[in-house]
Amino acid sequence: MPTDPQNPATTTPDAQADAQIEAGALHPDDASPRLTWSAEGEPRSGRFGDVYFSADDGLAETRAVFLAGCGLPEGWAGRAQFTVGELGFGTGLNILALLDLWRREGPAGGRLNVFTIEGYPLSRDEAARALAAWPELAEIRDLVLARWPRQTPGFHRIDLPEFRATIDLAVGDAAWALAQWTGKADAWFLDGFSPALNPGMWSDAVFDGVAARSAAGARVATFTVAGAVRRGLSERGFQVDKRPGHGRKRERLEAFLPLTEPAAATAAAIPRLAVIGAGIAGASAVRALTAAGASVVLIEADQPGAGGSGFPAGLVTPRLDAGDALIAGFHAQALNRARDLYAATPGAIRSGGVLQLEQAERDGVRHAKVAAQALWSKGEMTVLDAAEAAARLGEDSATGGLMMAGAATVTPAVILDHWLAGSEILKAEAAGFEARPEGGWRILDADGAVLCEADAVVATAGWGTAALAPELGLRPVRGQADWVEGVTAAAAAWGGYVAPTATGLLFGATHDREDTATDVRAEDSERNLAALATRLPRLAETVSTAPRQSRAAIRATTRDRLPVCGEAPGRPGLFVLGGLGSRGFCVAPLLGEHVAALITGAPSPLPAAMAARLGPARLI
Ligand SMILES: Cc1cc2nc3c(=O)[nH]c(=O)nc-3n(C[C@H](O)[C@H](O)[C@H](O)COP(=O)(O)OP(=O)(O)OC[C@H]3O[C@@H](n4cnc5c(N)ncnc54)[C@H](O)[C@@H]3O)c2cc1C
Ligand SMILES: C[S@@+](CC[C@H](N)C(=O)[O-])C[C@H]1O[C@@H](n2cnc3c(N)ncnc32)[C@H](O)[C@@H]1O
Repeated sequence: MPTDPQNPATTTPDAQADAQIEAGALHPDDASPRLTWSAEGEPRSGRFGDVYFSADDGLAETRAVFLAGCGLPEGWAGRAQFTVGELGFGTGLNILALLDLWRREGPAGGRLNVFTIEGYPLSRDEAARALAAWPELAEIRDLVLARWPRQTPGFHRIDLPEFRATIDLAVGDAAWALAQWTGKADAWFLDGFSPALNPGMWSDAVFDGVAARSAAGARVATFTVAGAVRRGLSERGFQVDKRPGHGRKRERLEAFLPLTEPAAATAAAIPRLAVIGAGIAGASAVRALTAAGASVVLIEADQPGAGGSGFPAGLVTPRLDAGDALIAGFHAQALNRARDLYAATPGAIRSGGVLQLEQAERDGVRHAKVAAQALWSKGEMTVLDAAEAAARLGEDSATGGLMMAGAATVTPAVILDHWLAGSEILKAEAAGFEARPEGGWRILDADGAVLCEADAVVATAGWGTAALAPELGLRPVRGQADWVEGVTAAAAAWGGYVAPTATGLLFGATHDREDTATDVRAEDSERNLAALATRLPRLAETVSTAPRQSRAAIRATTRDRLPVCGEAPGRPGLFVLGGLGSRGFCVAPLLGEHVAALITGAPSPLPAAMAARLGPARLI
């Protein structure tokens, strides 16, 4: 908790750092908090000239000002979900104290959603040093540090199933992050350095965002009683009260939004849900819904992995976009999330890193632009020259490429097995829907018989979704891939691609638009071999003599080559997650969480602008 010049008996801000005050404008190229450390081990922001908390009683102060200030733990009694928003994640101390209280006194079976914003993120090592002062939080601290979020701009999720909690950290300016968050907070911790030192954290735009993203009856707590803060809150409908401060501080602030609608239902039953199709999209939706405490019926026409998600290897690669920041940011977020969730799935990741080879002359420049994007952690995207590419490939390369260290090759069957374990699977082909008069849907087979009834349905049937939701205009792209045993290679892509499997390698793949047949074709295997020979002739020669297996499936694509995810317009309770093209293993895990959030009312991990861009309405 920082100092507050309006609140006496605090330390005087150091004059040198005063010069570095910035009015909230963030510079992605210099987002360092510029920490300095006091002799007592207290971290101080060189950027704002203020302390994060006081080393002697920072934890007690956090508990008094923010937890008690928001009426916790009483405020969450009986709640199925409770959402806390914070301005200024800093070292994470407030959130650790919150988790500690939630673990001890949270409602039975309840879920805690945390949304916290940080413009100048601390590294894991910096946070570890700062948090060393509180041994009583050691267990929680070590868990959070082990999952410490990336410091790149955008939204990052940390799972804490041990606490039935998730933390969404928005790295970026507070006003931006509030405008992009679509959740509603029941409690707010406003902890953004003193208003005198950091007016940007207490601007009209920030107060607008806090008010807009507050649930009915939301409570707000802050250490500062500055007039601008009191006015900022009261002008937006909060009832604001000064309270006795903690320790040497005279006063602090509590505020609440008077109830204008009934309080959130206590322990609301999560509705009965159905998911149609057991590929990576369906498995991602089921995983996220199950993690949110819902129970799901999965309807699958054949068996898990019967479609495009059923090859022995899957590349997890982002769409590289050097121009459209929104699309680039989405793919960076999706890749991070997919990678984290696969890493938590034993045996899912076969190998880390994929080399994207240059295909056209301009690719070198494009790759350099991508590697320079602030979206990627250090070392995540590296431009390789031809010699470096050759060293990775194990044979000569005519070009360099982009080494995507965060990309990966996964074993799809392992992911589907884990994420669908314990799910109720109904083997049937869904052919249509009928709205129930009381809300929700009946899922019908081709004869019109009711397969299942559900309050909400997610269509994740890959190419099968084209028939279930014809209004989306999905188009088919047939693809065949081939694989051999006993030969191995590093993952690389160039239009064609090669990827390690559990026992050999897979190469491919063909792209044939408007073809929906899944027969295996000898000429397609020859095309795949020829594509391999263009970049890896030595490997192609070895592969050509090995016994080959082949399989074909249909990709579902949209007209703008972006996935489609959200509620179908005019059909409340009917959701779609599809049009995944060639990148389902990268984007589906994050989109599964987005769709689960739309259904369960939990905050979505997806920024609002991206959610809007991916919604079905754009295709209709
Ligand atoms: C040759 C090839 C290689 C590929 N390689 C990669 C790769 O390396 N990385 C990558 O990310 N993507 C790859 N893809 C793209 C892949 O198809 C998508 O990324 C993704 O796997 C699609 O997942 P999905 O869950 O949307 O659909 P699918 O995996 O196709 O799953 C749909 C499921 O729904 C079921 N179903 C369909 N209709 C119905 C219905 N009416 N009722 C009930 N069930 C139904 C099907 O049986 C199937 O199990 C590849 C595609 C092909 C063809
Ligand atoms: C007092 S510290 C937060 C302390 C934190 N809650 C803790 O428990 O350690 C304030 C934080 O707000 C961040 N911050 C300041 N201005 C910001 C802005 N405009 N947007 C986002 N974050 C900002 C700072 O980088 C700093 O980490």
